[in-house]
Amino acid sequence: MAQGPYSEKVMDHFMHPRNMGEIEDPSGVGEVGNPACGDVMRLYLKIENDTIIDAKFKTFGCGAAIASSSMTTELIKGKSIDEALAISNEAVAEALGGLPPAKQHCSVLAEEALQAALEDYKKKQQEGK
Ligand code: FES
Repeated sequence: MAQGPYSEKVMDHFMHPRNMGEIEDPSGVGEVGNPACGDVMRLYLKIENDTIIDAKFKTFGCGAAIASSSMTTELIKGKSIDEALAISNEAVAEALGGLPPAKQHCSVLAEEALQAALEDYKKKQQEGK
């Protein structure tokens, strides 16, 4: 098969995104956007006993952003909050078999959405909700 700029994993996660959708009554939600391209990513987390038991996403964006969101949900499920906090955009891009240089920012969006969702969770915890 002809090789485009995208790895097979990127294409797979773009064509068959994992965990797309919303979580009802989520433990934390993170929404971030990239003003340069206008893409927006929203990540929902369900957390119990310090562990991410479910993750879903909605991404209005390019294929690399959708693949990055999909891969991020796969990477964080079953992880502790600290483990999830340590996941960088490089880790997401690497798990996807790499992204073209012009598309690295799409994986940054995934890292930012994850951080934002975890922050939202922590804030809710402090508020005792
Ligand atoms: Fe903006 Fe991919 S082009 S997230």
